[in-house]
Amino acid sequence: MSNWLQCSRRCFWNRTNYGTRALSSFDKIPRAPPDKILGLTEQFSKDKNAKKVNLTVGVYKDNQGLVTTFPTVAKAQKILDQDENMNSDLSYLPIIGSPAYRKSTLNFLFRDSCPESGPKLLEQERVSFVQTLSGTGALVVAADLLAQFVSRTVWIPNLSWPNHTNIFKRHGFNDVRQYSYYENGKLTVDKWIDNLKKNVKKNDGSRHCIILHACCHNPTGVDPTVEQWRKILDAVRELEMIPIIDMAYQGLVSGNPAKDAYVLRMCLDESRYGNWPHGLFLCQSFAKNMGLYGERVGSLSVVVPPNQPESKGNVESQLKQIVRSMYSSPPAYGCRVATLVLSSDDFKRDWYKDVESMVQRLLNVRQGMYDRLGWEGLINFEQQHGMFFYTGLKPHALNRLRDEYSIYMTMDGRLSLSGVNDHNIDYVCDAFKAILD
Ligand code: LMR
Repeated sequence: MSNWLQCSRRCFWNRTNYGTRALSSFDKIPRAPPDKILGLTEQFSKDKNAKKVNLTVGVYKDNQGLVTTFPTVAKAQKILDQDENMNSDLSYLPIIGSPAYRKSTLNFLFRDSCPESGPKLLEQERVSFVQTLSGTGALVVAADLLAQFVSRTVWIPNLSWPNHTNIFKRHGFNDVRQYSYYENGKLTVDKWIDNLKKNVKKNDGSRHCIILHACCHNPTGVDPTVEQWRKILDAVRELEMIPIIDMAYQGLVSGNPAKDAYVLRMCLDESRYGNWPHGLFLCQSFAKNMGLYGERVGSLSVVVPPNQPESKGNVESQLKQIVRSMYSSPPAYGCRVATLVLSSDDFKRDWYKDVESMVQRLLNVRQGMYDRLGWEGLINFEQQHGMFFYTGLKPHALNRLRDEYSIYMTMDGRLSLSGVNDHNIDYVCDAFKAILD
């Protein structure tokens, strides 16, 4: 018998005796690890402990543990419900989104949030825009466009939202690097700038992108000061990098969304930076600051360099192609709600009040935990803001919290503050004390 025949008989035999089925192409697909944030919620729902506490995902809950609808959002929904035309229109939106949403979001981002520099950019037709599936969708579309035409290298802070790396690796970036952001409870701005200056060569032909968290850094909650931002942006500009601003928590520092866009305002300050010769990307979302999480309402704005009249249209045409091939067009309902909220000064004023009360509750919880824990030595508490409390706890402590107390946090030591309320704050803090003793 030839070797070939022997082998093929043996292989066939092995296969038919392997379990009770033949090998399939699906055997090549391994099990992926659970998502570092959303995967924990799945685990949480299976936990039978009546005292369990979910402090994982960044979703705002009220003192009763409920995901609330902002009063302004509820008002907008009511108006939409009563509007027959809106209500019955279940057709597709255009590929790049609703024109009304585009107008109101651009106004909010480039007029309300950047009154000095933004209006000029809009008037000069220098902002390409696409409605996206929240901030994640904006990052994905941005990554796709950049990887196709501009750059496959991106710098992500260490630490960062774990999905940043996923997104860029999966969407064409073969060079995903980290810059030093935070170590032992402190920002490492000098090291960050050093990292960039040593490794980014502006004339070597490769273009480097950089992810900048606009505010409420995720997971640490600690942002550079304005002075530090100046130094950082000076370096980023000098090295001709492409800023990708991830603005998912606009409003959660001060309670005033427009005010919290200070990094965007700084970047667009022409007197300091002139223009960004290779563009600037703004990925934005209304998930957190309007509580529109599941509606997936966000946007990508690409600020193109001046004196290139064709760039805005070219970029937008590519964004269209990307969206069409990925999910065709965005969902319609949530963006109608956001458009209404942004539609008048009265509405916006009420919305700002909603954001303010959310921020106030987050601050109260933060303070409540601080008072109970007295953790001055452990972590730089006063500098943190936004949805999260970064504890710095290590995996063995986090495992104990989960296994012994059914308190779930992400494994980077982050805790979503609004999961803590008057009913569980003592339980949570006592558990923290017990595992740290
Ligand atoms: C988070 O960090 O918890 C949020 O941004 C939600 C998410 O999609 O991960």
